[in-house]
Formats: sequence, C-alpha cells, structure tokens
Amino acid sequence: MARTKVSIKTLFLILFLAYGTIKCVHGAESIQGLGINWGALASHPMDPHIVANMLKDNGIHKVKLFDADSWVVSAFSGTGIEVMVGIPNDQLSKFARSSSDAEDWVKQNVTKHLYNGGVNIRYVSVGNEPFLKSYNGSYVKLTFPAMQNIQKAIDKAGLREKIKVTTALNADVYESSSNKPSDGDFRDNIRDDMKQILQFLHETDSPFIVNIYPFLSLYQSESFPKDFAFFDTQSRTISDNNAQYNNVFDANLDTLVWALRKAGYHDMKIVVGEIGWPTDGNQNANSNNAKRFYQGFLKKLANKQGTPIRPGSMEVYLFALFDENLKSIEPGNFERHWGIFRYDGKAKFPIDFSGNGQEKWPQEAKGVVYQEHKWCVLSAEVKNLSLVPSALDYACANADCTSLGYGCSCDNLNLAGNASFAFNQYFQTRDQSVEACNFNGLASIVTEDPSKGTCLFPIEIESSGDMVTATRIVTSLLIGLSMFFITS
Ligand SMILES: *[C@@H]1O[C@H](CO)[C@@H](O)[C@H](O)[C@H]1NC(C)=O
Ligand SMILES: *[C@@H]1O[C@H](CO)[C@@H](O)[C@H](O)[C@H]1NC(C)=O
Ligand SMILES: *[C@@H]1O[C@H](CO)[C@@H](O)[C@H](O)[C@H]1NC(C)=O
Ligand SMILES: *[C@@H]1O[C@H](CO)[C@@H](O)[C@H](O)[C@H]1NC(C)=O
Repeated sequence: MARTKVSIKTLFLILFLAYGTIKCVHGAESIQGLGINWGALASHPMDPHIVANMLKDNGIHKVKLFDADSWVVSAFSGTGIEVMVGIPNDQLSKFARSSSDAEDWVKQNVTKHLYNGGVNIRYVSVGNEPFLKSYNGSYVKLTFPAMQNIQKAIDKAGLREKIKVTTALNADVYESSSNKPSDGDFRDNIRDDMKQILQFLHETDSPFIVNIYPFLSLYQSESFPKDFAFFDTQSRTISDNNAQYNNVFDANLDTLVWALRKAGYHDMKIVVGEIGWPTDGNQNANSNNAKRFYQGFLKKLANKQGTPIRPGSMEVYLFALFDENLKSIEPGNFERHWGIFRYDGKAKFPIDFSGNGQEKWPQEAKGVVYQEHKWCVLSAEVKNLSLVPSALDYACANADCTSLGYGCSCDNLNLAGNASFAFNQYFQTRDQSVEACNFNGLASIVTEDPSKGTCLFPIEIESSGDMVTATRIVTSLLIGLSMFFITS
C-alpha cells in the first residue's frame, strides 16, 4: 500500500522521537527472560522507534519479529534489546534451494545491523510454525534444508556463537495419545523431519522454540475445563508418574519434554516462542480473562517455578504486543485481538511485567499521532434499511468487523449500529478518505465519537509508512540546510 500523505504532525513526531532517544527514560524492570512478539500484519503499523522506547519503558529486553524488515530491525540499534528475526514460510523454498540466496539474506538482514553498538540479533527463526497441521505439509520438506543453508551463511559470517538458527514450531508437532505428558511424542507424519531438526539444534546448541496456547485448548473443545487454562486454581489435576498437573500449559510443555527425551535429547533448551490470551472476537476472549491469564503466568515465571519435570526459569515471548487487523481469521475471529496493547499502543488491562502481581498499568506507547477526530457512520437520514446489509457486508469483507460477533466487545448493536461500526472500520483503514465514507449515500462523516460502553469506534493512527517518507523529508531538509551552511 503506497502512502504518500505526510502531515505536519508526523514531522513534529520525528523531532519528538529524536528528542526521546536523546533523553534516556528509565522504566520498570521485567522478569528476566521475558520477551514479546511484535507482528506487523496491521493496516497502520506502529513506528518502530516508538516500539523500541515502549519496550525499554516496560523493562522488556527481548523482541521477536516475524521477518527482518530493515527499518524495523534498525530501530533496535543501540537499545541492547535482543532481537529474534524471522524468515516467513513463503520464502523457505528459496533458501532451501539456494545457499547463495541464504548468504544474501544473512548479509542484508543480519550482518548489516551488527556493527559496533548496532542491533543485538540473537536468533533467526527459519519459518513460522512451518509444520502446522493446517498447512497440509507444504513446508515440511523445505524447513530443514533452509535452516542448513542459513546456518552455513551464519557460519561463513563468523556468527555461529552469537546467533542461533532455529525454527518456531506450534505445539501441534507433538501429541500424547493418553493426554498424559509422559506419553508425549512427535506427530507420526513428521517424526523423521523432526529428528533431523533436533539433531541440528543439538549440534548448534540452539533452542527448541514452541508456541503454546491454553486459549486454543479452551476454544477447540467445549468440554475443556476452563480453569485448567489458567494458573490460579487446583480445581482439576492430572497425575502422571509422580507429577501433578493443574494447568494445561505445564502439561503441554512437559509433553514436549517427554517427546524430546524419547528422541534422546534430555536437556535440550526450550524457549516458549508465543503464549498469550486474546481480548475480543470470542466469548472467552476478553480483558478480564487475559488479565487473569497473564497475572498467573507472569507470577509463575517470576518465581522460576517452571514445570513439574522442567523446574526453573524460562525464556518466554508473550503474544503479542499489538492487535493486528490484517491477520487471517481462518483460525477464529480472536486472531486480530492478541495484543496486550491496542492497535494504538494503549494498554487494555493492568499487567505487571515484573511478575509481582501488582494491579498496575503498563507503560503505553508515547508519541503516537492519530488521524483526525472523524468517524464514518450510517447516515441519520437513512430510514429505509433494506440496502444496509449489502453495504455492511462489503465493508466487513474489506475491514475488520470481528468485534461484532456473539460475546464480543460490540455484540449489543442493532443493524444500524452494526453498519456504523463496519463503515467506520472501512473508513479508518482507508486513512479517512472521503470516498471511503459513501456506501451509495448511506454513510456520513461525524465528529462526535460514536463509541458506546465496551464498543470502541477507533480512529486510526498515522501509520509508519508515512513515517518513512517523513523521515526522508526531514533528513533531506537537514542535509539541505547543512549544504547551505557549508556553501555560504
Ligand atoms: C531481508 O528481509 C526482508 C524482510 O523479511 C525481505 O523482504 C528481503 O527479501 C530479505 N533480503 C534478502 C536479500 O533476502
Ligand atoms: C489444506 O487442506 C484443506 C482440506 O483439503 C484445504 O481446505 C486447505 O485450503 C489446505 N491448506 C493449504 C494451506 O494448502
Ligand atoms: C426500501 O427500499 C427498497 C429498495 O430501494 C424498496 O424496494 C422498498 O420498497 C423500500 N421500503 C420502503 C418501506 O420504503
Ligand atoms: C450484527 O452483526 C453480528 C455479527 O455479524 C451479528 O451476529 C448480529 O446479528 C448483527 N445484528 C443485527 C441486529 O443485525
């Protein structure tokens, strides 16, 4: 999406950010080993410099990315924040086939950032959940060769000790026939592929990265005992050998530990690549449940409790920093609502990243610039609603309406309310363009906030696409000015 509009506000923001970088902010400290995922599948991604400052303000020193966008990665330069970069699944075939493409990738997306005081890149995740069942095996034969080629390139660049090559896998790569962790093993149809990868991780001393989602256990099974998804009750226990399990996270992670043991890797390091709770798009996805989940989980992390057969501290990346309104909703409408923070960097619920369990709000994004205070709604003059449903469907096919369903934040609207919500989502996604608020004359722009109760009618932020352009303009202005002083 090309964006050329640059507002004066955006230019001021650049100057503000430059100031913020100079003026060092000291924030809270989070639990050691705590990181966070930042995905960029949003129509208006947050400016990476704002994100870097926000992580520092919250004392979070690790970030996991899903690609290696140069502008994003370079924003972490000099921050000391550990960065995991990723290679998207659709690029695996290229790197599986060609070691020179892998070398180019490492040069352009890793080595370039590593000059003294540069970016602290620690991991490369080759693929993202490439063995996921719903991919029907499309990436199974590509992942390992791609890992090998990226590793060769890393070795060639002399980075073997500093940067670990791995792949973030979903917990669906293993299972237990009895639901007891000790019966854990890798899925039949990928067991040999997993063996190659385990051997590789062992030789390179790289961690096994696994994404674990207690929310999905609850979502996928009506009979799943809800409390077992959280960490604060003993209402249900699974006994397994001498171990007692009173939450599904422990049971799931130990199923992996058993699967690794069976494959001969007793002490392979495990990193939790994604874990979190969504806040909308499903009746169990709300801020109260998310708060409860994180509170229990972070306390457990801070206490270095670990799991029954893997006690101790853990390295964990929460999922996720922000909501992403362009994520596929094939897995469910909750997919666009995983953020601990909203799309604009505002906190949704209290969360104590130090794990002390205090009722406190995290540090929000600073310096976010919003678009104008304008919304698009169903025009008050429309009395005949017969043409509304098709317009509503059109808006929802092209913008995010996942807050409208049963049990969601906007589930109490009538047809007119639904239409207004949908029209506004469409309008905001399209940068409030006047043409995006027409719908055959059904819609009109208003300046009074239509939000009601839990149902938020958002105003989008100035996207970081604008920021790139603005940064370039400021830079060329500065260069121009200095040329002026040099030549005069
Ligand atoms: C570097 O990473 C970016 C973002 O993932 C990608 O678009 C680009 O193709 C990569 N560069 C190379 C040389 O592969
Ligand atoms: C996997 O197979 C299912 C059922 O045949 C199909 O609906 C789906 O689109 C396939 N997914 C991919 C990524 O190929
Ligand atoms: C509402 O509009 C539709 C389509 O223009 C029309 O067919 C219908 O008769 C109208 N209903 C009323 C009550 O005016
Ligand atoms: C509003 O939209 C939601 C989600 O599509 C739907 O379930 C609900 O029935 C709609 N309400 C009305 C009054 O049309």
